[in-house]
Amino acid sequence: RHGNESMSGVTVRISDIEQAAEVLRGGGLVALPTETVYGLGANAEDPVAVARIFSVKGRPPSHPLIVHIGGAESLEAWVEDVPAPARELAERFWPGPLTLVLRRGRRVPLEATGGLETVAIRVPNHPVALALLSAFGGGIAAPSANRFGSVSPTTANHVRSELGDAVDFVLDGGPCTVGVESTIVDATGEIPSVLRPGGATREDLEAVLGRPLAVHSTSQVRVPGQHPSHYAPKARVVLVAPEKVIAEAELAQELGHQVGVMVPPTSSNTAVNAHVVVAVPGSMAAYAHELYGFLREFDQRGCDLVIASLPVEEGLGLAIANRLRRAAGPRASA
Ligand code: TXA
Ligand code: MG
Repeated sequence: RHGNESMSGVTVRISDIEQAAEVLRGGGLVALPTETVYGLGANAEDPVAVARIFSVKGRPPSHPLIVHIGGAESLEAWVEDVPAPARELAERFWPGPLTLVLRRGRRVPLEATGGLETVAIRVPNHPVALALLSAFGGGIAAPSANRFGSVSPTTANHVRSELGDAVDFVLDGGPCTVGVESTIVDATGEIPSVLRPGGATREDLEAVLGRPLAVHSTSQVRVPGQHPSHYAPKARVVLVAPEKVIAEAELAQELGHQVGVMVPPTSSNTAVNAHVVVAVPGSMAAYAHELYGFLREFDQRGCDLVIASLPVEEGLGLAIANRLRRAAGPRASA
Protein backbone atom coordinates (compact mmCIF):
# COMPACT_ATOMS: atom_id res chain seq x y z
CA ARG A 1 0.00 0.00 0.00
CA HIS A 2 1.41 3.37 -1.00
CA GLY A 3 -1.62 5.45 -0.32
CA ASN A 4 -3.86 6.86 2.29
CA GLU A 5 -7.26 6.10 0.91
CA SER A 6 -10.11 8.47 1.70
CA MET A 7 -13.72 7.38 1.76
CA SER A 8 -14.35 8.50 -1.80
CA GLY A 9 -11.66 6.22 -3.13
CA VAL A 10 -9.36 9.11 -4.06
CA THR A 11 -5.84 8.06 -3.25
CA VAL A 12 -3.37 10.52 -1.78
CA ARG A 13 0.19 9.27 -1.81
CA ILE A 14 2.38 9.49 1.29
CA SER A 15 4.84 11.47 -0.82
CA ASP A 16 2.10 14.06 -1.50
CA ILE A 17 1.55 14.44 2.24
CA GLU A 18 5.27 14.86 2.83
CA GLN A 19 5.55 17.38 0.03
CA ALA A 20 2.59 19.34 1.39
CA ALA A 21 4.17 19.36 4.87
CA GLU A 22 7.39 20.73 3.29
CA VAL A 23 5.39 23.48 1.59
CA LEU A 24 3.92 24.44 4.99
CA ARG A 25 7.38 24.47 6.60
CA GLY A 26 8.61 26.74 3.81
CA GLY A 27 5.86 29.29 4.46
CA GLY A 28 3.66 28.17 1.55
CA LEU A 29 -0.06 27.57 1.23
CA VAL A 30 -1.66 24.11 1.00
CA ALA A 31 -5.30 23.46 0.17
CA LEU A 32 -6.41 20.51 2.27
CA PRO A 33 -9.55 18.40 2.43
CA THR A 34 -11.53 18.25 5.65
CA GLU A 35 -14.85 16.53 6.32
CA THR A 36 -16.65 19.90 6.19
CA VAL A 37 -15.13 21.97 3.36
CA TYR A 38 -11.65 22.40 1.83
CA GLY A 39 -9.32 24.65 3.80
CA LEU A 40 -6.57 27.01 2.62
CA GLY A 41 -3.81 26.18 5.08
CA ALA A 42 -0.59 27.77 6.32
CA ASN A 43 1.72 27.20 9.28
CA ALA A 44 -0.34 28.76 12.09
CA GLU A 45 2.83 30.00 13.82
CA ASP A 46 4.22 31.80 10.75
CA PRO A 47 2.70 35.31 10.60
CA VAL A 48 3.98 35.91 7.05
CA ALA A 49 2.44 32.69 5.73
CA VAL A 50 -0.80 33.47 7.56
CA ALA A 51 -0.85 36.93 5.97
CA ARG A 52 -0.64 35.28 2.53
CA ILE A 53 -3.91 33.46 3.26
CA PHE A 54 -5.66 36.80 3.66
CA SER A 55 -4.25 38.23 0.44
CA VAL A 56 -5.09 35.11 -1.60
CA LYS A 57 -8.65 35.04 -0.27
CA GLY A 58 -9.13 38.78 -0.48
CA ARG A 59 -10.21 38.58 3.15
CA PRO A 60 -9.96 41.55 5.54
CA PRO A 61 -7.15 40.89 8.06
CA SER A 62 -9.52 41.42 10.99
CA HIS A 63 -11.35 38.17 10.19
CA PRO A 64 -9.97 35.36 12.37
CA LEU A 65 -8.93 31.94 11.05
CA ILE A 66 -9.41 28.46 12.49
CA VAL A 67 -6.26 26.67 13.72
CA HIS A 68 -6.41 22.96 12.88
CA ILE A 69 -4.53 20.63 15.21
CA GLY A 70 -3.80 16.90 15.14
CA GLY A 71 -5.59 15.78 18.29
CA ALA A 72 -7.54 16.85 21.38
CA GLU A 73 -4.58 15.92 23.56
CA SER A 74 -2.54 18.84 22.18
CA LEU A 75 -5.26 21.45 22.80
CA GLU A 76 -3.48 22.82 25.90
CA ALA A 77 -0.47 23.70 23.79
CA TRP A 78 -2.53 26.23 21.80
CA VAL A 79 -4.76 27.94 24.36
CA GLU A 80 -4.40 29.67 27.74
CA ASP A 81 -6.91 27.51 29.55
CA VAL A 82 -9.47 24.81 28.88
CA PRO A 83 -12.69 25.15 30.90
CA ALA A 84 -14.38 21.84 31.78
CA PRO A 85 -17.18 22.07 29.15
CA ALA A 86 -14.59 22.75 26.43
CA ARG A 87 -12.60 19.70 27.46
CA GLU A 88 -15.74 17.58 27.37
CA LEU A 89 -16.75 18.82 23.91
CA ALA A 90 -13.22 18.34 22.54
CA GLU A 91 -13.06 14.79 23.81
CA ARG A 92 -16.46 13.83 22.46
CA PHE A 93 -16.46 15.60 19.10
CA TRP A 94 -12.85 15.58 17.89
CA PRO A 95 -11.91 14.70 15.28
CA GLY A 96 -15.09 16.26 13.92
CA PRO A 97 -16.98 19.30 12.64
CA LEU A 98 -16.75 21.33 15.86
CA THR A 99 -14.60 24.44 16.38
CA LEU A 100 -13.92 25.71 19.90
CA VAL A 101 -13.12 29.36 20.58
CA LEU A 102 -10.81 29.60 23.60
CA ARG A 103 -8.30 32.06 25.07
CA ARG A 104 -5.33 32.44 22.73
CA GLY A 105 -2.10 30.72 23.72
CA ARG A 106 1.11 32.70 23.21
CA ARG A 107 2.30 30.63 20.24
CA VAL A 108 -0.73 31.71 18.19
CA PRO A 109 0.15 34.95 16.37
CA LEU A 110 -2.40 37.77 16.39
CA GLU A 111 -2.35 37.60 12.57
CA ALA A 112 -4.22 34.28 12.81
CA THR A 113 -6.84 35.58 15.25
CA GLY A 114 -7.57 38.89 13.55
CA GLY A 115 -6.11 40.62 16.60
CA LEU A 116 -8.40 38.83 19.06
CA GLU A 117 -7.25 37.39 22.38
CA THR A 118 -9.23 34.24 21.59
CA VAL A 119 -8.44 31.53 19.03
CA ALA A 120 -10.66 29.09 17.14
CA ILE A 121 -9.35 25.49 17.20
CA ARG A 122 -10.49 22.23 15.69
CA VAL A 123 -9.36 18.69 14.85
CA PRO A 124 -10.68 17.83 11.36
CA ASN A 125 -12.07 14.36 10.75
CA HIS A 126 -10.44 13.54 7.43
CA PRO A 127 -7.67 10.98 6.97
CA VAL A 128 -5.71 13.26 4.61
CA ALA A 129 -5.94 16.29 6.91
CA LEU A 130 -4.91 14.18 9.90
CA ALA A 131 -2.01 12.67 7.96
CA LEU A 132 -0.84 16.16 6.96
CA LEU A 133 -1.14 17.46 10.54
CA SER A 134 0.87 14.50 11.76
CA ALA A 135 3.58 14.87 9.08
CA PHE A 136 3.79 18.63 9.63
CA GLY A 137 3.74 18.42 13.42
CA GLY A 138 2.36 21.92 14.06
CA GLY A 139 -0.97 23.70 13.73
CA ILE A 140 -2.47 24.65 10.37
CA ALA A 141 -4.37 27.94 10.19
CA ALA A 142 -7.02 27.53 7.51
CA PRO A 143 -10.15 29.32 6.46
CA SER A 144 -12.36 27.80 3.79
CA ALA A 145 -10.44 27.75 0.48
CA ASN A 146 -12.68 30.19 -1.42
CA ARG A 147 -12.46 33.87 -2.22
CA PHE A 148 -13.91 36.13 0.46
CA GLY A 149 -17.72 36.07 0.52
CA SER A 150 -18.21 33.26 -1.99
CA VAL A 151 -19.32 29.65 -1.65
CA SER A 152 -17.00 27.27 0.23
CA PRO A 153 -15.32 24.52 -1.85
CA THR A 154 -16.31 20.91 -1.24
CA THR A 155 -14.09 19.33 -3.91
CA ALA A 156 -10.45 19.84 -4.92
CA ASN A 157 -11.65 21.02 -8.34
CA HIS A 158 -13.66 23.82 -6.73
CA VAL A 159 -10.41 24.99 -5.10
CA ARG A 160 -8.38 24.72 -8.30
CA SER A 161 -10.92 26.60 -10.37
CA GLU A 162 -11.33 29.37 -7.80
CA LEU A 163 -7.79 29.86 -6.46
CA GLY A 164 -5.63 28.21 -9.13
CA ASP A 165 -1.96 29.13 -8.98
CA ALA A 166 -2.36 31.19 -5.81
CA VAL A 167 -2.13 27.91 -3.88
CA ASP A 168 1.24 26.14 -3.73
CA PHE A 169 -0.16 22.62 -3.30
CA VAL A 170 -3.63 21.08 -3.51
CA LEU A 171 -4.27 17.80 -1.69
CA ASP A 172 -7.23 16.03 -3.29
CA GLY A 173 -9.08 14.01 -0.66
CA GLY A 174 -12.28 13.61 -2.65
CA PRO A 175 -15.61 15.35 -1.99
CA CYS A 176 -16.15 16.53 1.59
CA THR A 177 -18.51 14.18 3.41
CA VAL A 178 -20.32 16.75 5.58
CA GLY A 179 -20.41 19.62 3.07
CA VAL A 180 -21.07 22.59 5.38
CA GLU A 181 -18.56 24.24 7.73
CA SER A 182 -17.95 23.31 11.35
CA THR A 183 -20.12 24.46 14.24
CA ILE A 184 -18.30 27.24 16.09
CA VAL A 185 -18.77 27.27 19.86
CA ASP A 186 -17.46 29.97 22.17
CA ALA A 187 -16.14 27.83 25.02
CA THR A 188 -14.19 30.51 26.89
CA GLY A 189 -16.70 30.49 29.76
CA GLU A 190 -18.65 27.97 31.79
CA ILE A 191 -21.70 28.20 29.51
CA PRO A 192 -20.71 27.54 25.90
CA SER A 193 -22.60 29.37 23.16
CA VAL A 194 -22.96 28.67 19.44
CA LEU A 195 -21.47 31.38 17.22
CA ARG A 196 -22.09 29.58 13.91
CA PRO A 197 -24.28 26.50 13.37
CA GLY A 198 -22.54 23.79 11.37
CA GLY A 199 -21.76 20.11 10.98
CA ALA A 200 -22.05 19.24 14.69
CA THR A 201 -25.72 19.61 15.60
CA ARG A 202 -26.91 21.64 18.54
CA GLU A 203 -28.89 18.60 19.70
CA ASP A 204 -25.73 16.47 19.84
CA LEU A 205 -23.77 19.20 21.62
CA GLU A 206 -26.50 19.66 24.20
CA ALA A 207 -26.75 15.91 24.76
CA VAL A 208 -23.05 15.83 25.64
CA LEU A 209 -23.17 18.93 27.85
CA GLY A 210 -26.43 17.89 29.50
CA ARG A 211 -27.88 21.39 29.20
CA PRO A 212 -29.03 23.90 26.58
CA LEU A 213 -26.49 25.97 24.70
CA ALA A 214 -26.88 29.67 24.18
CA VAL A 215 -27.52 30.22 20.46
CA HIS A 216 -26.93 33.66 19.01
CA SER A 217 -29.06 34.50 16.03
CA THR A 218 -27.08 36.30 13.34
CA SER A 219 -28.87 39.56 14.09
CA GLN A 220 -27.91 39.44 17.77
CA VAL A 221 -24.21 39.00 17.53
CA ARG A 222 -21.41 40.29 15.37
CA VAL A 223 -19.06 37.40 15.00
CA PRO A 224 -15.94 38.65 13.27
CA GLY A 225 -15.81 37.41 9.72
CA GLN A 226 -19.48 36.59 9.44
CA HIS A 227 -21.23 39.05 7.19
CA PRO A 228 -24.77 38.53 5.96
CA SER A 229 -23.55 38.07 2.38
CA HIS A 230 -21.23 35.16 3.16
CA TYR A 231 -21.63 31.86 1.31
CA ALA A 232 -23.21 33.65 -1.65
CA PRO A 233 -23.26 32.53 -5.27
CA LYS A 234 -23.18 35.24 -7.98
CA ALA A 235 -26.87 34.70 -8.70
CA ARG A 236 -29.33 36.50 -6.46
CA VAL A 237 -30.93 34.06 -4.01
CA VAL A 238 -34.58 34.51 -3.03
CA LEU A 239 -36.17 32.43 -0.26
CA VAL A 240 -39.90 31.67 -0.42
CA ALA A 241 -42.25 29.28 1.37
CA PRO A 242 -41.74 25.64 0.22
CA GLU A 243 -45.16 25.44 -1.43
CA LYS A 244 -44.42 28.59 -3.47
CA VAL A 245 -41.01 27.59 -4.84
CA ILE A 246 -42.19 26.15 -8.15
CA ALA A 247 -44.72 28.87 -8.96
CA GLU A 248 -42.24 31.67 -8.14
CA ALA A 249 -39.52 30.01 -10.18
CA GLU A 250 -41.72 29.58 -13.24
CA LEU A 251 -43.00 33.15 -13.00
CA ALA A 252 -39.47 34.57 -12.82
CA GLN A 253 -38.38 32.36 -15.73
CA GLU A 254 -41.31 33.66 -17.81
CA LEU A 255 -40.28 37.21 -16.92
CA GLY A 256 -36.92 36.53 -18.56
CA HIS A 257 -34.68 35.43 -15.68
CA GLN A 258 -32.37 32.45 -15.92
CA VAL A 259 -33.74 30.71 -12.86
CA GLY A 260 -32.11 28.05 -10.74
CA VAL A 261 -34.68 26.32 -8.59
CA MET A 262 -34.20 24.13 -5.54
CA VAL A 263 -37.31 21.97 -5.50
CA PRO A 264 -38.16 20.99 -1.89
CA PRO A 265 -38.48 17.29 -1.06
CA THR A 266 -42.16 17.86 -0.24
CA SER A 267 -42.83 18.49 -3.93
CA SER A 268 -43.02 15.60 -6.38
CA ASN A 269 -42.97 17.91 -9.40
CA THR A 270 -39.52 18.17 -10.93
CA ALA A 271 -40.74 19.07 -14.43
CA VAL A 272 -40.36 22.74 -13.61
CA ASN A 273 -39.96 25.40 -16.30
CA ALA A 274 -36.68 26.90 -15.12
CA HIS A 275 -33.09 27.09 -16.38
CA VAL A 276 -31.61 24.70 -13.80
CA VAL A 277 -33.73 22.43 -11.61
CA VAL A 278 -32.30 20.54 -8.65
CA ALA A 279 -34.21 18.28 -6.29
CA VAL A 280 -33.39 18.93 -2.64
CA PRO A 281 -32.72 15.62 -0.85
CA GLY A 282 -35.07 14.73 1.99
CA SER A 283 -32.25 13.79 4.35
CA MET A 284 -30.53 16.78 5.93
CA ALA A 285 -27.14 15.03 5.77
CA ALA A 286 -27.55 14.53 2.03
CA TYR A 287 -28.74 18.12 1.62
CA ALA A 288 -25.74 19.53 3.53
CA HIS A 289 -23.47 17.37 1.38
CA GLU A 290 -24.99 18.77 -1.86
CA LEU A 291 -25.79 22.38 -0.90
CA TYR A 292 -22.62 24.18 -2.04
CA GLY A 293 -22.43 22.04 -5.18
CA PHE A 294 -25.95 23.19 -6.10
CA LEU A 295 -25.01 26.85 -5.58
CA ARG A 296 -21.89 26.47 -7.71
CA GLU A 297 -23.84 24.71 -10.45
CA PHE A 298 -26.30 27.60 -10.66
CA ASP A 299 -23.42 30.02 -11.21
CA GLN A 300 -21.64 27.77 -13.70
CA ARG A 301 -24.76 27.39 -15.78
CA GLY A 302 -25.43 31.10 -15.87
CA CYS A 303 -28.42 31.49 -13.55
CA ASP A 304 -29.07 35.06 -12.42
CA LEU A 305 -31.74 34.12 -9.88
CA VAL A 306 -32.09 31.21 -7.46
CA ILE A 307 -35.41 30.34 -5.83
CA ALA A 308 -35.24 28.16 -2.71
CA SER A 309 -36.93 27.57 0.63
CA LEU A 310 -35.61 26.98 4.14
CA PRO A 311 -35.57 23.45 5.59
CA VAL A 312 -36.91 22.74 9.08
CA GLU A 313 -34.37 24.27 11.44
CA GLU A 314 -33.32 21.32 13.52
CA GLY A 315 -30.31 19.03 13.33
CA LEU A 316 -28.21 19.86 10.25
CA GLY A 317 -31.19 21.87 8.98
CA LEU A 318 -30.05 24.69 11.27
CA ALA A 319 -26.72 25.06 9.46
CA ILE A 320 -28.33 24.71 6.01
CA ALA A 321 -30.90 27.42 6.81
CA ASN A 322 -28.13 29.67 8.17
CA ARG A 323 -26.13 29.37 4.91
CA LEU A 324 -29.21 29.88 2.72
CA ARG A 325 -30.15 33.02 4.67
CA ARG A 326 -26.65 34.36 4.24
CA ALA A 327 -26.64 33.47 0.55
CA ALA A 328 -29.88 35.46 0.27
CA GLY A 329 -28.58 38.31 2.44
CA PRO A 330 -27.67 41.81 1.33
CA ARG A 331 -24.53 41.97 -0.81
CA ALA A 332 -21.55 44.08 0.18
CA SER A 333 -21.55 47.26 -1.88
CA ALA A 334 -17.90 46.90 -2.90
O1 TXA B 1 -15.40 23.70 8.73
C1 TXA B 1 -14.75 24.73 8.89
O2 TXA B 1 -14.86 25.41 9.92
C2 TXA B 1 -13.80 25.15 7.78
C3 TXA B 1 -12.71 24.08 7.65
C4 TXA B 1 -11.66 24.46 6.64
O3 TXA B 1 -12.15 23.83 8.91
N1 TXA B 1 -13.23 26.42 8.02
C5 TXA B 1 -13.93 27.58 7.97
O4 TXA B 1 -13.15 28.70 8.16
O5 TXA B 1 -15.11 27.65 7.75
P1 TXA B 1 -13.63 30.18 7.83
O6 TXA B 1 -12.44 31.04 8.01
O7 TXA B 1 -14.28 30.23 6.54
O8 TXA B 1 -14.57 30.51 9.01
C6 TXA B 1 -14.03 30.61 10.29
C7 TXA B 1 -14.86 31.52 11.12
C8 TXA B 1 -14.55 33.00 10.96
O9 TXA B 1 -15.21 33.57 9.90
C9 TXA B 1 -15.02 33.55 12.29
O10 TXA B 1 -16.39 33.85 12.18
C10 TXA B 1 -14.85 32.39 13.24
O11 TXA B 1 -14.49 31.28 12.48
N2 TXA B 1 -13.78 32.63 14.20
C11 TXA B 1 -12.48 32.33 14.10
N3 TXA B 1 -11.79 32.72 15.18
C12 TXA B 1 -12.69 33.26 16.01
C13 TXA B 1 -12.62 33.84 17.30
N4 TXA B 1 -11.46 33.94 17.95
N5 TXA B 1 -13.76 34.31 17.85
C14 TXA B 1 -14.94 34.21 17.19
N6 TXA B 1 -15.08 33.66 15.96
C15 TXA B 1 -13.98 33.20 15.38
MG1 MG C 1 -15.41 30.67 4.95
